[in-house]
Amino acid sequence: MPRIVTLAGDGIGPEVMAEAERVLRALPLGLELDPRPFGGGAIKTLGAALPDETLAACKACDAVLLAAVGLPEFDGKQVRPELGLLTLRKELGVYANLRPAKSGKIDLLLVRELIGGIYFGKRGRHEDGTAYDILEYAAHEVERVARTAFELARTRRKKLHSVDKANVLETSRLWREVVIEVAKDYPDVELHHIYVDNCALQLVLDTTQFDVMLTENMFGDILSDEAAGFCGGLGLAASASIGKPGTPGIFEPVHGSAPDITGKGIANPAAMLLSTSLLLAYGLGEHEWARKLDAAVLHAIDTVKTPDQGGTASTSDVGDAVLAALGF
Ligand code: NAI
Ligand code: MG
Repeated sequence: MPRIVTLAGDGIGPEVMAEAERVLRALPLGLELDPRPFGGGAIKTLGAALPDETLAACKACDAVLLAAVGLPEFDGKQVRPELGLLTLRKELGVYANLRPAKSGKIDLLLVRELIGGIYFGKRGRHEDGTAYDILEYAAHEVERVARTAFELARTRRKKLHSVDKANVLETSRLWREVVIEVAKDYPDVELHHIYVDNCALQLVLDTTQFDVMLTENMFGDILSDEAAGFCGGLGLAASASIGKPGTPGIFEPVHGSAPDITGKGIANPAAMLLSTSLLLAYGLGEHEWARKLDAAVLHAIDTVKTPDQGGTASTSDVGDAVLAALGF
């Protein structure tokens, strides 16, 4: 029986997670759900954003479903809920972040390196006040995420764009060398290299030219939000973070805990439910149910709109419509 650890977190997290749990319980897959404390609430009750028991449960399960963390009262504090998120990603070794963007003729999948690069490098201030952040990549860090991207490209349109800045950055030159090496194992996949600045432009000019995109941590952070902008914005953006095959991945919407609408019952659960679909596909290998849930969510939000989409529907109205579309 597959076990899913659910981390509802803070703010609207528990509100959108409730809809995901309803859907998961309705599926005839015998899934076991294991809710655990995580985020700001966990800091207040247990003294840590990622309590030891929560981390142990995540390491031992089949997939982690996460809603959102972050509470305004922790802004600028030393112990922050978001730190728990970075630690969880690092501990589970989820080096590949998958961000699908689908809308009309657009159907791309951005694969972002998630636990290396400038966000994890040395940082600080020199005595003269100058600040620095160090960008480093080891060849093996590039290789493993490149393999993930090529494998995914194989299951899709067999076209991969590797995004770098090899005309300037040494890390990008290594990136390109490694990607070219890995590509030899995937002769059926068409490989293109593109500079990140041109890529940002091409996404705006013609998003449909891309299928799978592969890039490093910071470039991916920026480009994935740009791509989400073409496909319904934050309210629909879902993500999967996966590591070595056979280890649990983390599936979560891109949005945060939305303190401005917390407790009003109007949060849009669509991104959470699309993340649940990614969990079914990439976490459990249930591709058929993933496809059905994807279709059900997109169908439901066509007519049942929460305020962010210009309507007056509630969070659970969307959940009801999704369950109905699934035939439950
Ligand atoms: P946010 O994504 O929480 O909110 C941005 C805007 O989008 C707000 O107006 C919010 O109401 C709206 N929004 C977000 N999700 C929505 C949904 N499902 N339905 C309807 N409207 C939605 O980003 P913000 O305000 O920058 O951050 C709030 C807190 O969340 C902070 O503490 C931040 O650190 C944290 N955060 C956590 C993330 C995570 O858990 N992965 C990611 C981003 C932010
Ligand atoms: Mg971002």
